[in-house]
Amino acid sequence: MRMHTGTKSVDDSVAATGRAALTKTHAVSTEADASVAHPKSAEIFRRNRCFIPGGVVSVNRAVQPEIVFTKGQGAYIWDADGNRYIDYHAAFAPHLLGHNDPHVTDAVISVLRKGASLYGSGTTELEGRLAELICQHVPAAECVQFLNSGSEATCQALRLARAVTGKDHIIVMQGGYNGWHNDVSCNLMTPLEIIGPRISPGEYPYISISAGVPREHQQLVHPINFNDLQSVEYVCQNHSIAALITEPVLQNVGIIGPEAGYLEGLRELADRFGFILIFDEVKTGFRHQIGGYATLASVRPDLVVYGKAIANGYPIAVLGGRKELMDWFVHGEPSKRVLLAGTYNAHPVPTAAAIATIERLLMNGGEVYRHVELLGQKMQDGLERILRALSLKAVVARQGSAFCVYFMDHCPKDWHDLAACHDFGRDQQLRVGLIGRGIYFFPTATKQCSISFAHTEDDVDFTLEQIKNQLKEMIE
Ligand SMILES: Cc1ncc(COP(=O)(O)O)c(C=O)c1O
Repeated sequence: MRMHTGTKSVDDSVAATGRAALTKTHAVSTEADASVAHPKSAEIFRRNRCFIPGGVVSVNRAVQPEIVFTKGQGAYIWDADGNRYIDYHAAFAPHLLGHNDPHVTDAVISVLRKGASLYGSGTTELEGRLAELICQHVPAAECVQFLNSGSEATCQALRLARAVTGKDHIIVMQGGYNGWHNDVSCNLMTPLEIIGPRISPGEYPYISISAGVPREHQQLVHPINFNDLQSVEYVCQNHSIAALITEPVLQNVGIIGPEAGYLEGLRELADRFGFILIFDEVKTGFRHQIGGYATLASVRPDLVVYGKAIANGYPIAVLGGRKELMDWFVHGEPSKRVLLAGTYNAHPVPTAAAIATIERLLMNGGEVYRHVELLGQKMQDGLERILRALSLKAVVARQGSAFCVYFMDHCPKDWHDLAACHDFGRDQQLRVGLIGRGIYFFPTATKQCSISFAHTEDDVDFTLEQIKNQLKEMIE
């Protein structure tokens, strides 16, 4: 078995110091706590705060304890103080192959060595190669366009849907995340006190997660519960709907899977009411299968968006779909043409990374997917054994390499269910405690954990051991 004792993160004294400091307050540990356990991280945060508001460049990275990571390799990340962690955060899920996968790194270095640059004029063979690969393997993508981030891609998908249908209203999911732009920056992890009782059939108000969204725009967006076809129908009967956008599995609040018939039902309603069905597969996409979750579910959206795992950590996103829709980006009538532009679209570095990632995923008859499924199952079985042995009211939700422990007696069917039943405090306490034990689950309750191809059975065994110890400490 691989020993973790050779690293600082699992050195008993360091782990104990971390635990003592980090579990003092579980919801939000104080700055003083973090600086005791991670003095170099604290110093870097202090300096960066002088120039970057809050010290971070993406607000959802602002978590406690404040740790500055300096290196990632395979299944591990290291912080500025030299502590090593088995990483299950995977930077919000892109690292399906593991950090700095050699196949991907080689491809990036090679493309730069060959002198590839950003030309900003015409097309390139490289982007053509990536487009062909995706269209070959993703049934929903008859053709594709490339952008730099998931948010850009979902923004373009919705704009395209509005152009094609001539309608303005859209449906989004409570508990879904589709990016930061005005259409979708709403109703993510809204506390129950704010969302109130379950509404079905019906819709919830737009509850913004950002200031600055025009009120008129909010009127165009209709949040409903996931797994609720009746509410889709209700909203379609009351508004002129251009598109429904949803993750096929809600993976920004753990793992909330579609109930039997739900995705098929969305397809049927899209056809009946004439809206564009957009699957946001930024998280589910290549993590679960080449071809996306849509392929696993045998449901074909009109448009589909990929990001994250498609390039194993490099910034590129894909918008694909039916050719007759995608052709509106080059519509012959200028008034109907949808503007898609971007200085960095299909930059050679992330483009080479995406090609190499897909090639790696295709190698040896899909060994990557077999490996992460095996480890996912092992993690789930182990977790369930531990939860049973400790008589905890908790369940494990999993889709392949992605999993989440919910402290409630059933797997949630939507955000409302989750918000009403989950013990968020216990979830948070587990996550923060694990950090002191050399395991990095992102320290925000309900966030998905991701296993990579680089993780080993020993990593999972060690993780389970630490989870058992942490849970025991919490309930004693
Ligand atoms: C499902 C989903 N869609 C869209 C996005 C936005 O992607 P990005 O952060 O690359 O803009 C995310 C990011 O977490 C996501 O999880």
